[in-house]
Amino acid sequence: MACAEGEHVLRELEPSVERLLERHLAFAQDWLPHQFVPWSAAQDFDGPLGGAAWELHQSALPRAVQDALVINLLTEDNLPSYHFEIATRLRRDGAWGAWVHRWTAEEDRHAGALRAFIHARRAVDPVALERLRMNHMATGWSAGWLSPLHCLAYVTVQELATRQAHRNTGALCGDRVGEALMARIAADENLHMLFYRGLYHDALQAFPDEAMAALADVLCGFEMPGTAIAGFRARAARVAAAGIFNLDIHHEHVVLPLLRALGVMEMPALGPAGQQAQSRIGLHVEALQTRAARARDVYARMNADGTHQ
Ligand SMILES: [Fe+2]
Ligand SMILES: [Fe+2]
Repeated sequence: MACAEGEHVLRELEPSVERLLERHLAFAQDWLPHQFVPWSAAQDFDGPLGGAAWELHQSALPRAVQDALVINLLTEDNLPSYHFEIATRLRRDGAWGAWVHRWTAEEDRHAGALRAFIHARRAVDPVALERLRMNHMATGWSAGWLSPLHCLAYVTVQELATRQAHRNTGALCGDRVGEALMARIAADENLHMLFYRGLYHDALQAFPDEAMAALADVLCGFEMPGTAIAGFRARAARVAAAGIFNLDIHHEHVVLPLLRALGVMEMPALGPAGQQAQSRIGLHVEALQTRAARARDVYARMNADGTHQ
């Protein structure tokens, strides 16, 4: 889609942004990150304060939960890149700007709270974590989308996937405080998803063929933004085998609910490009199901070997 058409999309959707932002602000609960950190469990580290260096045995969290926390945190850490991508592809003024800045302010709580929790619990090696963060943020992130519709389709899928990742990491962490913190973050991601999904619903009504095509492009090539993290594949495999986030979850709890909520497969009155995109999505869902079933066998073998622990 050319720039002029992108401008047209942004203008047409601006009233929806205004309405959905109002709804978001009515539902969003203010919360205070510092209240979700177990400060009394914390201890000084080595270095200028002369405390104790981190040691492997200090983490009480299962290995896969540690991996998930590292992926989730580093993914949140790259917020400056996401802000840049979204603000430059959408807009920084009017209702769009109000949303982008509000969203950024809410997202900024996530990395801060997760890192404080991790350090207070000595959940992962803080030196390795900081090196990973420097490396990951210095690499930056770009989705490579071309149009505002691609951008909106991506964030709709990504917010829902991230909600599942935080929620499931919390549920398996075996730590009451950690579970409460991650449930709190997941609730934010849920509201972000509802905002973007509502906007995408309106985009499908206003630009059925273009929005269907952008959704097909995004779903067929979808990757979480953390894939560039050093050692991602090995960590993601352990996270998948533990049932925190894997292809089954992506299929059943991300892709299918979104398609259902947006009425994607039942959308009438599409032109040839929209129909073609709709069948691409149908084929992608079938392929995803097959890949998920195959992956399930791999996870079962990993769990039997204990290779993810
Ligand atoms: Fe977040
Ligand atoms: Fe979010």
